[in-house]
Amino acid sequence: MEQAFKLMYERLADFMMKNRDFDKASVILEAGCGMGQLTIPLVNRLRNIKESFKIIAFDISAVPYEGDLEILRKRIMKEKLKEFITPMKGNVRNMKAIDDANVDLIVSNELFCELNRNGLEQALKEFYRILKPNGQMAHGELSPIPENEAQKLVVQANAHSLETMEPKLEWFSPYSDEIAVLMHKIGFKNLVVKYFETNLKMDFDTAIRKLGEWKTDPVFIEEHLNDLQRYGLEYPIEHVIFCEK
Ligand SMILES: C[S@@+](CC[C@H](N)C(=O)[O-])C[C@H]1O[C@@H](n2cnc3c(N)ncnc32)[C@H](O)[C@@H]1O
Repeated sequence: MEQAFKLMYERLADFMMKNRDFDKASVILEAGCGMGQLTIPLVNRLRNIKESFKIIAFDISAVPYEGDLEILRKRIMKEKLKEFITPMKGNVRNMKAIDDANVDLIVSNELFCELNRNGLEQALKEFYRILKPNGQMAHGELSPIPENEAQKLVVQANAHSLETMEPKLEWFSPYSDEIAVLMHKIGFKNLVVKYFETNLKMDFDTAIRKLGEWKTDPVFIEEHLNDLQRYGLEYPIEHVIFCEK
C-alpha cells in the first residue's frame, strides 16, 4: 500500500479508537475489512493497551474484491497475528455464522458505499442483532459531496467504474443523514457524526495509476486528462457515524 494511504489508515485507526471504548471491547467485528487496511493498524494499537481481544475480520471477498481476504490471511500468518484476528467470509446482509448478542463493537470503513439502500438496512439490522446490549459502532464513509475539482473527479470516476457490482451501486456513498435515520429506526441510540480529514491528495501520475486500479472507464480518463493534470485527485472528507445499541 502506498505510504499516503497507509498513513491515512493509521490516523483513521487513532480516530476510531479515540471515539469508542476499544479498551473495554473483547470481541470486535470489522465489517468489509478488505485486505485489512484498517484492521492491522487497529490491532497494532490494541496490542499496546490490552493482552486479549479478538477482531472478526468479516468480508464477502467477492468480485471486484475477490482474494482480498486471502491477502489478509497471509498477512496474519506473516505478522503472527492469528490470536487477534479471525478472518470470516460472509455477507453483511445475512451474518448467519454469528450468534445474537455476541459482539462488543462493530467498525467499518467504506463498506456502506458498496451496498444499496436495501442492503444497508439489512446490514444494520444484522449489526443490531449480533451486538451485545450497549454495544458500540463506528462506520466511516467518504462524503458524497465534493468540495473542490479534485474531489469531484474522484466522485465522477467512481460513477464510471467498469467493475461489475451486483446489485448495481446507487451512490458514491450514502449521506450521513440517511444512515443515521436508518440506524435510529432500527433502534440504535446516542448517534453522533464526526468528520475525519482524509488529507489524501494524488498528483497526476498517482491519479492515473489509481484510476487504473479502480477500473475506471478509459474513455472517462481520456476525456478528463486536462483536469487530472490540473487538479489531480483528492479524497473527500470522511463522515464517521458513532452509535450504540
Ligand atoms: C471499498 S472496500 C473497503 C475495504 C477496507 N475496509 C478499507 O477501508 O480500505 C469495501 C469492502 O467491503 C466488502 N464488501 C462489499 N459488500 C459486502 C457485503 N455485502 N458483505 C461483506 N463485505 C462486503 C468488499 O469485499 C470490500 O472488501
